[in-house]
Amino acid sequence: MKTAIYPGTFDPFTNGHDDILRRALRVFDKVIILVAVSPAKRSLFTQAQRVEMITDHLSSEPRSSVDSWNGLIVDYAKKHQINAIVRGLRPTGDFEMEFQMASMNNHLYEEIDTFFLPTGGKHYFVSSSLVKELHKNGRDIAEFIPDAVLKYLKNALGDGVL
Ligand code: COA
Repeated sequence: MKTAIYPGTFDPFTNGHDDILRRALRVFDKVIILVAVSPAKRSLFTQAQRVEMITDHLSSEPRSSVDSWNGLIVDYAKKHQINAIVRGLRPTGDFEMEFQMASMNNHLYEEIDTFFLPTGGKHYFVSSSLVKELHKNGRDIAEFIPDAVLKYLKNALGDGVL
């Protein structure tokens, strides 16, 4: 059974993340969405809320599960004996940082490798921050995030304010 971790802050989880997950599930038997901490970011949703909304969205996908972690991804991987990380790459400057993180992770835990998937053409310009910004400015964001996630965003921010 080949299991991969798909880590991210997912604040919130978007259709771009969903696209990466679905494609990873074609290669791996199981993918764990790991809601992690990015030190540079102040999140709108708590980790528990992000776990809840992604779990809600993926309730009909038995080969994926959702977990959260406050430490290094490699420590989670070691603890659960997982040796694959999945990350999406957008043509908007992701590569250098991703290469550095993948290299550091591999340096810290040589059993682990990172598998990059190019972000699908419909999603390369999407990001969680942009989605939140559009919503705050009253734009319809239904095309960018799953329905279950939209419900949480509307609860947190209302219908969007101009
Ligand atoms: N489609 C659309 N948007 C995407 C995307 C995709 N396929 N992939 C990423 N994004 C967006 C995200 O929405 C996010 O947008 P935002 O910056 O506006 O919030 C941005 O791209 C980057 O997000 P993500 O891929 O989730 O990365 P991240 O920077 O939020 O997460 C961690 C980075 C959590 C994976 C990293 O900090 C980490 O591993 N932390 C744990 C500690 C650790 O192990 N550190 C590594 C030491 S080497």
